[in-house]
Amino acid sequence: MTKTILLASDHGGFALKSALIQALRKVDCVVEDLGPEGTSSCDYPAYADKLSLRLLEAGEEGQNGMVLGILVCGTGLGMSMAANRHPGIRAAVCTNEFMARMARAHNNANVLCLGERVLGQGLALEVMRAFLAAPFEGGRHLRRIEQFETHSMA
Ligand code: RB5
Repeated sequence: MTKTILLASDHGGFALKSALIQALRKVDCVVEDLGPEGTSSCDYPAYADKLSLRLLEAGEEGQNGMVLGILVCGTGLGMSMAANRHPGIRAAVCTNEFMARMARAHNNANVLCLGERVLGQGLALEVMRAFLAAPFEGGRHLRRIEQFETHSMA
């Protein structure tokens, strides 16, 4: 079934986000660009929140099949920290294809975070493709990720 891919960035990730969108528009998926529209300086938490709330609202299985998010900033780090504040969001910074595949297969990550200042465009595209193609394996991995929502530091 067709996937819906939500994307957002800050100024530090704008160029890579644009390249990812261009590549995604050539394949069979629904693409939603949640901004920004240019490289003016902006704050990444605002975009991480926007995408996270949109993803949670759509549900992991939206009207057009699975919904996944991609957040891009300079390093991917700030975006992942901000997105992971939302219960139900499992955002993973990935710097290679193995991490991307495992983030889906074992962690059921629903948001991929990329760093434009870390990865070249070619590698970033391969990381994105690996992330989007890998299925969650479920089983013992489901039990483990369910503990994200039930364990508390209190
Ligand atoms: C912006 O300069 C930069 O701090 C941001 O893109 C990101 O890397 C934060 O984690």
